[in-house]
Formats: sequence, structure tokens, C-alpha cells
Amino acid sequence: MPHRVPAADVTSGPSRPPVAVVTGAGSGIGAATARGLAAAGHHVVLTGRRKDRLDTVAGEITAAGGTCAVHPLDVTDAAAVRAFARTLERVDVLVNNAGGALGTETVATADPADWAAMFEVNVLGVLHVTQALLPALRASGDGTVVVLSSTAGHTAYEGGGGYVAAKHGAHALAATLRLELCGEPVRVIEIAPGLVRTEEFALNRLRGDAAAAAGVYRGVDRPLTAEDVADTVSWAVTRPAHVNLDLIVVRPRAQAAQHKIHRTPEPRATP
Ligand SMILES: NC(=O)c1ccc[n+]([C@@H]2O[C@H](COP(=O)([O-])OP(=O)(O)OC[C@H]3O[C@@H](n4cnc5c(N)ncnc54)[C@H](OP(=O)(O)O)[C@@H]3O)[C@@H](O)[C@H]2O)c1
Repeated sequence: MPHRVPAADVTSGPSRPPVAVVTGAGSGIGAATARGLAAAGHHVVLTGRRKDRLDTVAGEITAAGGTCAVHPLDVTDAAAVRAFARTLERVDVLVNNAGGALGTETVATADPADWAAMFEVNVLGVLHVTQALLPALRASGDGTVVVLSSTAGHTAYEGGGGYVAAKHGAHALAATLRLELCGEPVRVIEIAPGLVRTEEFALNRLRGDAAAAAGVYRGVDRPLTAEDVADTVSWAVTRPAHVNLDLIVVRPRAQAAQHKIHRTPEPRATP
């Protein structure tokens, strides 16, 4: 169902809540970000492919006293993204969160179709939504674009190839856009998380292998949570409009660098 922010809610006036669009808002970091921005006073438009997930998050926001709307959307579908943009009369904040990883194969063995899928969502998805909402973000007078990249967008690691390449693409998009918008009332903030334990990220990457997905976090003292990252997004978005946090790298304390993760050894089984 197309969402139109009622005209009465979007006309100028200091009491009108700013409108934040969050992609991939039905799970993990996107859902936590949607809840966080709603708690910070935004009217949040939740998008993602699974409507049931979006409805659940919307229910939580409403129960907590926030306001939101749901619009199912596949960010890789440029025409659908453009149609979505036409339903919005005001956009102050865009959080490009939809994304993910597929597989851990080496460059030598990876399936190019997986690379294409990762590029489609992590790079072209960000491009489609940003292009479509940029006129509204400019018109807001104080727009903010957030790109959820990853530390994979800054450092390569074995078996990360396609995701590393795609997130480097997301980083390049954010950095280029910031240069191109200099002098206009839109800031561009890249947030690059390290190890975050969310319900679906590792499970999707490891093609549904729950044991392997659990292994990603095994022995790590408190990986970041979706709420930790959402807190960073909300903080960055709510700085005064002239303050541009170009890039925030956020990791758990137990991860000092991409390859430097402290893991507590498993207790030995008694004979
Ligand atoms: N978890 C980590 O360790 C970690 C670390 C660094 C960066 N990140 C990045 O943070 C973002 C969120 O990750 P997460 O951990 O919260 O994982 P997640 O729960 O799997 O979130 C990904 C979200 O993107 C949505 N999505 C995927 N493809 C889409 C498409 N084509 N169109 C629209 N929405 C789409 C998914 O919802 P639907 O399937 O319903 O569409 C889902 O809600 C991703 O960009 C990820 O790469 C994650």
C-alpha cells in the first residue's frame, strides 16, 4: 500500500516531525534504527521486502508512542524505488541500511551470481534510493543521508571477496556523494560496523547453516548488537545540521581490527 505522509504532517513548521526513511527496516540494525529514530522524534517510513516483518516493527514503534508508516520495497528494483519516492512529500533523513553478504568462498571459487546479488543490494540499492530521494532531501533544507557500509568496506579479508568489494563500493558512493553535494544542504554520513550479532546476517551469509552462523560469534565477549549500531545512527543523525560525521567505524571492544578478534577458548570436554 503506497504511503503518503499526510500533507498536514509535512508542511513547514517547527512542530512537524522530521521524516526518516529506513531501508531494510524489518530486521536487525534497520529495525533497531527505525525504533531509535522514532524514539528520537522522527516519523519513520519503514521499507523492506517482507511486509510482515515491517508490520511487526511498526507495531512496536506505535506501542512506544512513535509514528511510522510501512512501504514494502525491493531496493534493487529501480522503478519501484522511483514510484515509492513519488509517495513521499517530505524526507529529512535517509538511512541506507538494506544489504547483506552471500557466501564465504574465495575469489578463486566464488559464484559470480553471488557477487552480482551483493553488488545489486549493497551498491545499486543505495544508488537507486539515494537518487530517488535526493530531491526531497535537498528540499528539506537540512537533509541527511546515512550509508550503512561495514568495516568490510575498508579492509579485505579472506573469503570476504564479494562482500568486501560491494561494501567498498558503498563506501565509494558515500565519499563521492559527499564531495558532489558540498555546498548543498545535505550531509552524507557513513557508518561502518564491525562484528554485529543480528538474527539473520550471518545466517543468510552462510546459506541457512545455523551452527556455522553461531560460530561467527563463538567466544566473543559481547559482539555489537543491532541497538548499539542504531544508537550510533541516531546520535549521528541528531547532531546539529552543520556537523557532518564523514565516517564512523564502530566495533565491539573484543575486535581490535578485522583480523584481531579476541575469543575465549571453549571449555575442554572432561574425559
Ligand atoms: N551484522 C553485521 O555483522 C554487519 C556488520 C557490518 C555491516 N552490516 C550491514 O548492516 C546492514 C544491516 O545488517 P543486519 O545485520 O541488520 O542484517 P539483516 O537483519 O539481514 O538486515 C538486512 C535487511 O536488509 C533487507 N534487505 C535485503 N535485501 C533487500 C532488498 N533487495 N530490498 C530491500 N531490503 C532488503 C532485509 O529485509 P528483507 O529481506 O525483508 O528485504 C533486512 O531487513 C547491512 O547493510 C549489512 O551489510 C552488518
